[in-house]
Amino acid sequence: MLQFKLVLLGDSSVGKSSIVHRFVKDSFDEFRESTIGAAFLSQTVKLGKHDDVTIKFEIWDTAGQERYKSLAPMYYRNANAALIVYDVTQPGSLLKAQSWVEELKHKVGDQDLVICLVGNKLDLCAEDPNARQVDIDDAQAYAQEKHLLFHEVSAKTGVGVAQIFQEMGEKVYEQ
Ligand code: GTP
Ligand code: MG
Repeated sequence: MLQFKLVLLGDSSVGKSSIVHRFVKDSFDEFRESTIGAAFLSQTVKLGKHDDVTIKFEIWDTAGQERYKSLAPMYYRNANAALIVYDVTQPGSLLKAQSWVEELKHKVGDQDLVICLVGNKLDLCAEDPNARQVDIDDAQAYAQEKHLLFHEVSAKTGVGVAQIFQEMGEKVYEQ
């Protein structure tokens, strides 16, 4: 089975671990603890466009807290795919996501790296119309300009999560 290395990057508490757990275990925890260092999980994806192919993602879920920042290159080096996550209710987290995009483009180059920008916690916008602090059009325009895939999701409800990995799977396979 073809294996691909996928790394998650983004500010602390944007929901990186929650997205991975939704994808790998189809579960959600309201009180998830902040990641220390990094966590490793793996999951397979059956590709829709290539229906006899299943690939495996080896997933490195990095810690967003500033004190772990120097570890990140260890995890994004040799990555085939990067999921850069922000929280749609926290504009500062989009700035952080953008700085990760710049770092990846600078250090890894984007030839072989499939990058997806992900706005998480979409469920909070449905609960309260004032919760949204990052305009979807702004984020999408940024993603388009930088040639990134883009999704808004909720790890809590699960909406959009499977599609991220499906689309990234297709892309890394096709490269
Ligand atoms: P670090 O490990 O510190 O980098 O954080 P993280 O990005 O892994 O965030 P984590 O998944 O630990 O989630 C942080 C908090 O946000 C937890 O309390 C989660 O329950 C909550 N959370 C994560 N995703 C969602 C979501 O889609 N909706 C809502 N409402 N809360 C979420
Ligand atoms: Mg985490």
